[in-house]
Amino acid sequence: MAGAERGRTPLVVGNWKMFKTSGEGASFIRDLAEALSGVKDREIMVAPPFTGLYEAAQVAEGTCISIAAQDVFWEREGAYTGEVSATMLADLGVKAAIIGHSERRQYFGETDEWVAKKVCAALDHGLQPIICVGESEEEREAGATAEVLAEQVPVGLSLVRREDAGRVTLAYEPIWAIGTGKTADPGVAQEAISLVRREVADTLGAEAARMTRILYGGSVGPGNIDELMAQPDIDGVLVGGAGLQVGSFSRIVRFEKP
Ligand code: 13P
Repeated sequence: MAGAERGRTPLVVGNWKMFKTSGEGASFIRDLAEALSGVKDREIMVAPPFTGLYEAAQVAEGTCISIAAQDVFWEREGAYTGEVSATMLADLGVKAAIIGHSERRQYFGETDEWVAKKVCAALDHGLQPIICVGESEEEREAGATAEVLAEQVPVGLSLVRREDAGRVTLAYEPIWAIGTGKTADPGVAQEAISLVRREVADTLGAEAARMTRILYGGSVGPGNIDELMAQPDIDGVLVGGAGLQVGSFSRIVRFEKP
């Protein structure tokens, strides 16, 4: 049974990474809102860099698009140069935060324990966490995918209270598929995402696993979206490169229902 029949509204998130100035982001959102008029039964988010969040939230107000941040720090305030708290993001009208993206793990030393603290802070301040997990190419080749997910998912969820489980989203993004044009075969993505769901069940219970949306990310584009969304456990997608143009992103949002 597909996620939508289980009450998991499909979610499409565009992660802009370090692209677009505030003005470029605002005009993108205006054009996107127009391109998506009439789209129903799916949620749409874009995640601009911190510098574009204020303007993006203003422009997105009253449209079908909501705004996510690409990271969040776990403390509310304090002497943490360069960091931004969940309270500050919520104050701008931001609804969600991507946490533990592989680029943050790889370049900035982010750990599963940090992810857990950030997830907890996001939930405490009304933001929906989108927790990224996924194995590297070497780990996949070594047959260690299940082992990696069995570490990242339970640790990342370790501070989540059961009553908050429905507000958590996960994104399975195999590192070898990010920005490479090498999308995971839909069957491979489905298999890994079903493992993620099993880890959610083991950590937060079967009901939480039934409610939790799990996205796929890694070289998603107009050419593979329909087949990915036909998989029973894939509840949406986290899009990088193809999310930077209105044409390709709106085609992804308008995926065909199986
Ligand atoms: P690409 O879609 O460019 O592969 O990036 C995926 C990603 O990292 C989204 O968070």
